[in-house]
Amino acid sequence: MGHRGTIIFVAATLLGVALANHVTAQNAQPEAVPVRQRLLMDFNWRFALGNADDPAKDFDPANSYFTYLAKAGNGAGAAAADFDDRGWRVVNLPNDWAVALPFSERGSSSHGYKAIGRNFPENSVGWYRKKFFIPASDLGKHITVEFEGVFRDSEVWVNGFYLGRESSGYTSFSYNLTDYLNYGGDNTIAVRANASLEEGWFYEGAGIYRHVWLVVTSPLHVAKWGTFVTTAVKDNAAEVTASVTVRNDAPKDAHFRIEQTILDADGKVLARGELNGLSLKAGVSDKFPSVLRVPNPHLWSLDSPYLHALVTTIRSGGAVVDRYETPFGIRTIHWDPNNGFFLNGKRVELKGTCNHQDAAGVGVAVPDVLNVYRLEQLKKMGCNAIRTSHNAPAPELLDACDRLGMLVMDENREYGINPQELDELKALILRDRNHPSVIIWSLGNEEWNLEGNERGTRVTQTMQTFAHRLDPTRPCTVAISGGWGQGSSISIDVMGFNYFTHGNNDEYHKQFPNKPSVATEDASTFSTRGVYVEDLAHQHLTAYDTNKPDWGATAEKSWSHYAARPYVAGLFQWTGFDYRGEETPFSWPAISSQFGILDTCGFPKDNFYYYQSWWTDKPVLHVFPHWNWPGEKGQNIDVWVYSNCQEVELFLNGKSLGRKKMTANSHLEWMVKYEPGTLLARGYNDGKEVLTDKIETTGDPTAVELIPDRSVIKADGEDVSVITVQANDAQGRMVPTANNEITFKLDGPGRIIGVGNGDPSSHEPDQYVPSVSTTPIAWRMHEVDSTKNRPEVAFNYDDTNWQVAFAGRDNHEERRGGFGKEFSRTNLYRGVFELAAVTNGVSVSLLLRDLGEDQWIYLNGQPLAMNARRNNSGHQFDLNPAMLRLGKNVVAIIATPLPGGHHNRDVGEQERGGNPAVVKIVALPGNWKRSLFNGLAQVIVQSTRKPGEITLTTSSPGLSPYVLKIHTEQVALHIVADAK
Ligand code: GAL
Repeated sequence: MGHRGTIIFVAATLLGVALANHVTAQNAQPEAVPVRQRLLMDFNWRFALGNADDPAKDFDPANSYFTYLAKAGNGAGAAAADFDDRGWRVVNLPNDWAVALPFSERGSSSHGYKAIGRNFPENSVGWYRKKFFIPASDLGKHITVEFEGVFRDSEVWVNGFYLGRESSGYTSFSYNLTDYLNYGGDNTIAVRANASLEEGWFYEGAGIYRHVWLVVTSPLHVAKWGTFVTTAVKDNAAEVTASVTVRNDAPKDAHFRIEQTILDADGKVLARGELNGLSLKAGVSDKFPSVLRVPNPHLWSLDSPYLHALVTTIRSGGAVVDRYETPFGIRTIHWDPNNGFFLNGKRVELKGTCNHQDAAGVGVAVPDVLNVYRLEQLKKMGCNAIRTSHNAPAPELLDACDRLGMLVMDENREYGINPQELDELKALILRDRNHPSVIIWSLGNEEWNLEGNERGTRVTQTMQTFAHRLDPTRPCTVAISGGWGQGSSISIDVMGFNYFTHGNNDEYHKQFPNKPSVATEDASTFSTRGVYVEDLAHQHLTAYDTNKPDWGATAEKSWSHYAARPYVAGLFQWTGFDYRGEETPFSWPAISSQFGILDTCGFPKDNFYYYQSWWTDKPVLHVFPHWNWPGEKGQNIDVWVYSNCQEVELFLNGKSLGRKKMTANSHLEWMVKYEPGTLLARGYNDGKEVLTDKIETTGDPTAVELIPDRSVIKADGEDVSVITVQANDAQGRMVPTANNEITFKLDGPGRIIGVGNGDPSSHEPDQYVPSVSTTPIAWRMHEVDSTKNRPEVAFNYDDTNWQVAFAGRDNHEERRGGFGKEFSRTNLYRGVFELAAVTNGVSVSLLLRDLGEDQWIYLNGQPLAMNARRNNSGHQFDLNPAMLRLGKNVVAIIATPLPGGHHNRDVGEQERGGNPAVVKIVALPGNWKRSLFNGLAQVIVQSTRKPGEITLTTSSPGLSPYVLKIHTEQVALHIVADAK
């Protein structure tokens, strides 16, 4: 496709993901158990930090004579099904463990100086474990687990069986669990992620930061990402080509038929097709295309992002064996070398922003609804396109773009043609090619070793040819920062200009008159929200549109440059939101970039209104800075106005400071001698006033106000309310200079998941999570002949000559039958552990697994439980601090024989030498709090699965508190996979 003049790309659609509980009116045929289930696996994981350097501190999964590679199912340590994870913290997904870590100068600037990466082996490996029940009736089904994204280099085990490794932190991947599961029982999945290495040069987070799903189908089923819907529109009708890949995972040949049905947004059938007499051999998959016609189609567009659904039904032996729903849109796209980008035949200027994934408070673990919030903020500005710089996005972000009408440049991470790199590109395209919002693939960004040379021409061509084979409906681009006219810019479908300062757009266009182009990146303007006097001590820049790096440009320069070049399809500004890392032009102690048009919370900076003026049709008028300048009376203050009105007049305390004409894509300035009061701007079109905007000198802050983006949210454990925290003066006006610290208290069915304020150099915590740790216990054991009045339970009893117990699992010993014999007699065990001082807010508990049929349990010589019967979930004791000692502590347990002795499998790992007890130390983090930054902060509140009323109350010295009520309402829930 390289040098073709005009490239016409038609079609698109949306990833085929049928929610188990989503059945449209027309295709509703109630079934007891849906033929395809997609269960959410986000809740009730256990999490602990491992260690990148020390296997012993890393719950060593290879700690057995025969490792999990030597013998299938031999995952040891935290990979073993029966590993005792009760001492780990409970977390829900999405989870980014990095965002809860402190900041450190030894951290990497790219990752916003979080204490993670190669200098922090103790913080860079995370382990996650979860139990989930599989009913006996699922035997014979096909069951996979799908991870949408784990940062990074993840390894997964189920029931001790090794499933595999995914090095990319951005690629969605899945494993087939079918053969390894316990049907009619609990199963354990264990995930190890190693975030020691960086894949990018921006904050990337750590852990299972996107959703996980359990997918249950028939052995004969639509393959993962197995549908591809393309649409061509002609003579007021759409020709929809629906291709479906069907897999037969059964051990015998399958005979079946496929029905394809297109539904409109109300579930009405618009078209139907059938393929009969099909068959697939055992273990084989194949593609089956059909073509359907939709007359008078409702097109997908930015103003009307209308979605259709393709329902693929597979019938075999008279029964429905799979039903798979693929949302899609009917639309055409066209990239033109002289006129830019066309959607449904109309030119659309791409008013885009590049964005990284992370948000204030939550890092990269962004709840779906928060992504919607962020997209809506961008849309308010007139942004109609995003570039998922520089990696595959969360699939739900693309779902939201489809629903909201936002175009997407979908970007790949690693550049190259090795099998792994091509597989990542393949996963991106197969996963995302049904989204109508995706209009172009970006193969990569600023590949300095390739982009300007012949190697770049070749590598880019190979990747692009590969991409075209998977999706012939969309072109590819790559963001090129140099060597325009050579290298990648020769072979790429659509030229991607990264920064107009890096070359000459017009010369390139002359040289390649048949190649479409787009500004993949520009501006890199930096500014700090609410700051109008540079404050280098705090690494704060002004919010006037004046600060930029050498390679960048002001918002005004950058937009004006491309607005004047309609042959370029538009531009993607660096960036929509501030993000952690890349603290340009600063470094430590700054922790965030300042490139955003909005800050990390999504609070607009003034440039937001520049873009809104020239990117939307609605009248805009915005005057800044603020008007609180005590002690500056008579001093000159630079006043700027962003507006798309023809004329603007400014008044200080009622006195006109003159009326000025606006030039397109520009702004207005007045130099104003400061006096407190009101600065009022009036905007005029055709001589008539259309709107006003004012800034006022406020009083000191007297009260807190909480403003939720939504005060009713779903009680689904996923939804969030994004709450703006501000300080107001006595007249209820937001005080733009307030920096009070606000403390939050939450009651009811909800939780705070993050706080932020957009200050690019704040080291306040984003999260207040309990710190959970365990301390090792060293055991000795000794046979006894009675359970009564044993002197050995005393704190000081000398047990140095006793046999060491539970010193580690040893499968080799176990195989020789030498292990566990001791359990067939009555024993006394003494376990020694060390404790630091137990301070306020710290609690210590002892979690035991059973060592016998009956047990007498003592701590430091004092009884904890007498005659405690065997109980397969073990025993938990929350230890009274008065019973604990600084330094050495002793647990003593007298245990009678287990029935069946060491062959009793119920008692778990301790029988094979694993430690039967965990001393768990929980330090509560204190109250959630955050300082305001220039008047504002943000708190994100998430629902639980219980409907009710959440009350969020603030406290702050000198400010009257605010009580906010958030209602959480009952909704249809995602069906979850969880322990019984
Ligand atoms: C670009 C790069 C972006 C970001 C930006 C900062 O060169 O593509 O990822 O680093 O510079 O200005």
